[in-house]
Amino acid sequence: MDPYANEWLDLLVRWLHVIAAIAWIGSSFYFIALDNHLRPPEDEADTERGIGGEAWEIHGGGFYQVQKYRVAPRTVPEPLYWFKWEAYTTWLSGFALLIVLYYVNANTYLIDRSVADLRPWQAIAISVALLAAAWFVYDGLCRLLRNDVALGAVLLVLVTLAAWGVSHLFAGRAEYIQIGAMLGTMMAGNVFFTIIPAHWELIRAKQAGREPSAAAGLRAKQRSVHNNYLTLPVVFTMISNHFPITYGHSHSWLILVALLVIGAWVRHFFNLRHTGRTAWWIPLSAALAIAAVAIAIRPHGSSGGTPVPFTRAQAIVEERCVPCHSAHPTKVSVAPLGLVFDTAKQIHAQASLIEQVAVRTKVMPLGNQTGMTQAERDALGAWIEQGAKTR
Ligand code: HEC
Repeated sequence: MDPYANEWLDLLVRWLHVIAAIAWIGSSFYFIALDNHLRPPEDEADTERGIGGEAWEIHGGGFYQVQKYRVAPRTVPEPLYWFKWEAYTTWLSGFALLIVLYYVNANTYLIDRSVADLRPWQAIAISVALLAAAWFVYDGLCRLLRNDVALGAVLLVLVTLAAWGVSHLFAGRAEYIQIGAMLGTMMAGNVFFTIIPAHWELIRAKQAGREPSAAAGLRAKQRSVHNNYLTLPVVFTMISNHFPITYGHSHSWLILVALLVIGAWVRHFFNLRHTGRTAWWIPLSAALAIAAVAIAIRPHGSSGGTPVPFTRAQAIVEERCVPCHSAHPTKVSVAPLGLVFDTAKQIHAQASLIEQVAVRTKVMPLGNQTGMTQAERDALGAWIEQGAKTR
């Protein structure tokens, strides 16, 4: 695909994806909070009408009274507002982004030949198969395991296994997006295959004049709660491509799992808080866990070693980076992120960034398309450690 057209597709689809995801996650936050705020109705007549709980809210200059029925009102109300396009649009635009970025440019973004020597079609097939597998395995487990704690434990083990496995198949950056896309697929699957059908069951039962069974509603509620706990973890995976300190680490999968768990744990704090409990030890332990991860993965300097002259460093950058990072790049249409390493001054100014992406982690050159060697990384690292002098 023409790189310029690809860039515009990226922009438009990403824009849509972020907007749809905000709407989806926003409604997830809102409804879980609302559920946790509900109190038994004050008016006896409301209880008799089938109201299970109610809440007062103030927003945008007005008071709202929201009531939730234990199962359903006497007749199907008109109009009735649904929440489903947010989820579908998020998944569809997310999958489109996966195609536009990671599948169209599989050699650059998905594959890292030092991790696994895959052909693009193989990497893409694995990625798509894992998305489908994530849904079927998760859905099966939800039907099989009645105990929520056991279910959570089994899912955590499987996510860890998946992260570990994918870290041996794809580039680190793609690993994080792949796991995020699998979790996102489970969430969208919950809406499409469980929650919306449960709503239809409620409505069909009302229309047929029978009392809807509460079971479908409870199943939908369970999946809706799962989705809520997955929001923070998935959002981290979606912004993770900005953080090579995480996905560029040799134990990227472990760091990913740690951050996913911390995200869900923080979500738990908010859900408890909506019910009126402030579990202060949750943010405290989350902060300690983040600090522990940060300390565990902090980079430490290595060599003093033999002096590396600037001419050597510049030659490496010219051969391995400048094909993309230049005012006149040969491998891309414009320099990525405007980062240009054409002159000594530019290289010197970006030395610490260069060290981070090409020495401490190996996320650059992207997909190692220019074939940078370990010896070159070491030399570049030594030059920077010796002060990144240009003379
Ligand atoms: C094949 C093209 C290509 C090559 C070769 C390449 N880069 Fe990049 N680089 C990119 C792209 C594309 C991005 C933007 C990645 C993104 O979308 O986040 C990037 C981003 C960066 C960033 C910003 C990272 C961040 O997230 O802040 C740095 C720094 C960087 N490259 C340095 C280098 C260095 C140093 C080399 C050589 C060792 C190099 N690049 C080689 C394509 C390349």
